[in-house]
Amino acid sequence: MIFSNTSKHTIASILVNGEKKEIMVRSADTLLTSLRDSLGLTGAKLACGNGDCGACTVLVNGKPMHSCLVLTVEAVHQEITTIEGLQHSPMPKAFVDHWAIQCGYCTPGFIVNSHALVTAHPEATEDQIEEWLSSNLCRCTGYKEINEAVKSVLQKKQK
Ligand code: FES
Ligand code: FES
Repeated sequence: MIFSNTSKHTIASILVNGEKKEIMVRSADTLLTSLRDSLGLTGAKLACGNGDCGACTVLVNGKPMHSCLVLTVEAVHQEITTIEGLQHSPMPKAFVDHWAIQCGYCTPGFIVNSHALVTAHPEATEDQIEEWLSSNLCRCTGYKEINEAVKSVLQKKQK
């Protein structure tokens, strides 16, 4: 809900990680900027800033989105989940257990997107995993450990 307007800022209410928050936004603010600068949720990272790398991935109504491309005002009636809201999901631990933790810049986006994958496709194939994670880039390493972490969560879901 948008409550009031000033000349430059609007007070908006958004739902993040299950909690309603009121923040000051300008019309051009991205969701990534608001999460990081207004709410102190710094897990999502600003890297490319143009939708190419996935470092800023958050869930909007359960779907992975590049928050650098979402305006905060577009997120007002949506349910936002960030990496901070996934601490009870099995995916962060799977990344640790499989040594899939990387530089800290790309890892939060990988975890959020991987969580979305196993939620949407609990029986995902190797090809689906590869295609799904192709929206997240790491310039320094391979994707083998990430793939194994995702598969370990999928296997537990299928038991
Ligand atoms: S910072 Fe958003 S996709 Fe790269
Ligand atoms: S970009 Fe994160 S480890 Fe390479």
